[in-house]
Formats: sequence, C-alpha cells, structure tokens
Amino acid sequence: MTASLTTGQGPATDEQAAFMAALDASAPRKEEPAAAPEKTVGVPFLEKKVTLSARHVNVFYGAKQAIFDVSIDIGKHEVTAFIGPSGCGKSTFLRCFNRMNDTIDDCRVEGEIRLDGEEIYAPEVDVVPLRARVGMVFQKPNPFPKSIYENVAYGPRLHGLFSSRGELDDLVEHSLRRAGLWEEVKDRLDAPGTGLSGGQQQRLCIARAIAIQPEVILMDEPCSALDPIATAKVEELIDELRRKYTIIIVTHSMQQAARVSQRTAYFHLGRLVEVDRTDKIFTNPAHELTEAYITGRFG
Ligand SMILES: Nc1ncnc2c1ncn2[C@@H]1O[C@H](COP(=O)(O)OP(=O)(O)OP(=O)(O)O)[C@@H](O)[C@H]1O
Ligand SMILES: [Mg+2]
Repeated sequence: MTASLTTGQGPATDEQAAFMAALDASAPRKEEPAAAPEKTVGVPFLEKKVTLSARHVNVFYGAKQAIFDVSIDIGKHEVTAFIGPSGCGKSTFLRCFNRMNDTIDDCRVEGEIRLDGEEIYAPEVDVVPLRARVGMVFQKPNPFPKSIYENVAYGPRLHGLFSSRGELDDLVEHSLRRAGLWEEVKDRLDAPGTGLSGGQQQRLCIARAIAIQPEVILMDEPCSALDPIATAKVEELIDELRRKYTIIIVTHSMQQAARVSQRTAYFHLGRLVEVDRTDKIFTNPAHELTEAYITGRFG
C-alpha cells in the first residue's frame, strides 16, 4: 500500500503520488515477524531458591493492555536481565514487583506476585515496608537535593532502622562502601549529592537503596545515562551485590545483560517470549523472536 503523507486524504497532485510510489517501492521490506508463543519457552520456573514469583500477570493502562499473561520465577541472589525492544513492557513488568504501578493513575495489575511466598497484592499489604524490601534504582540518577550523607540516611530515618547517631553513621558508611563510593566521598559527606558526577550519583542512589536493607533491588536501565567507565563500575558493583541481594535489571545493552546477569528474560509486545540461563539465551536461543532480537534484526 502506498503511504499517504497527508492525513488520510491521499496525495494532492500526480507529482506527489509519483514521489510516494517511488518512496514505497524503495522502502526496505520488513520480514514478517514471528508471533510470540502462547507459553513462554525456556525455563521460566525454578525448583528452589525463588525470591519472587509472578503468575499470569496482566497489566493495563486504562483499556490498553501492556503485559499479557506473564509468569516467571526470579532466583535468589541472582541477577535476572529483562531485555526486549522499546515499548515491550519491561519497565511496566518490573514496576509490578514493588507495586510502583500503583502510583500511576489508570494502571491496573492482575495476577499473582509473591515475595518469599507472600502475595504482595493482598489487600492487607502495606506498600511502604514492601518498597523497603524491594528497592528501586532508576534510569536517571535522582539523588535528593540533600547532602551525600542525608541521601543515604533518608531511608533508615523513614523506616526507623537505627537507635543512635553512631549506628546511623555506621549504616551510611557501610552502604556507601557497598556501593563502591565511600573512598570517593568520605571527606565530603556534607556536600550536596547532586554535585557528584553522573556515575557517582548513580552509585549514591544504589547506596540509598541498600541503606534500607532490601532483599531485592530493581534497576531500570541504571547505566543508560552513564559513560563507559562509570558503567563498568556500576556493572562490577551489580556483580558484587548479588551475593547479598536479588537483582532484576532492565537493559537495552545485550553486552550488559551478558556481562552482569545469570538469567535473561526476553519480552516482545507485552509477552514474555523466552527465559533461560543467560549463556543459553545468547548462544542458543530457542525462539526465533529471541534470536532475531539478539542478532540485531530488530529492536
Ligand atoms: N504511564 C503510562 N500510561 C499509558 N501507557 C503506558 C504508560 N507507561 C507505559 N505505557 C505503555 O505500555 C507499554 C509498555 O511500556 P514500557 O514503558 O513498560 O516499555 P519498555 O519495554 O520499558 O520500553 P523502553 O525500552 O522504551 O523503556 C507501551 O506501549 C507504553 O506506551
Ligand atoms: Mg522502560
């Protein structure tokens, strides 16, 4: 079909019509993509060491469905990467795990999500402690307009996690050390967090998440605003953090997914196409959509 440049009215002149026909003829033909499978292929479920489990999750924004019947287990002390083309629902699904979608008007989540076996969407669940157990780091570093110290101390104050100033000092130091930032900031803890470099700010946000002693850290493209050196530092840190925490990372970088994760989940148009060990996904994917994506045929 010839595309119309004017909105629904067709070309005004023969010249325009000829130009559009030429454009259409020279446009690269896209391969008809394969359909997503009815059931996720690979190994979506784990026999043991499951921290989070999602079953038959559907997410809607108003009448529009963004996630279709997704089921997956997230392994304890593993890094799970969510990959897939823009708009496929990675962030939407990630936000289900700490009920951040509750903060979006019009967003509705159906299905079951369990953290250590407990349903997090049960009516009696208080989202404040839930979000302390399931922390989040965003794409753009977003330190509070406070000092470095106060950025890290904020969560522990909110959740009453210490009983003396000394204990709080220790917690702040420990969190900054864990986030690989202590040596760089220990002499200027009173300086504003927003004055740090982008990579330092992101590690400060990670320290802030760690300070409330979460079990899970959700990371939505945590390195996309960082340069390669800062990215390498954060990736190293993620690998360290998994000893203590369960991590889900959304990334557009397949190299990053391959470097930091043990399992990878591939999403396509709101469906979870395939989940498996990361090395399997990147060397021998089972579904042709996964293969097309990782070989760069689309996305
Ligand atoms: N707040 C919102 N209101 C309405 N629709 C939304 C909202 N957020 C996301 N969507 C829609 O839901 C679908 C999934 O979006 P989502 O942001 O989860 O995708 P994504 O995989 O994270 O994409 P990207 O890689 O670009 O970040 C898209 O069609 C998007 O337009
Ligand atoms: Mg996203």
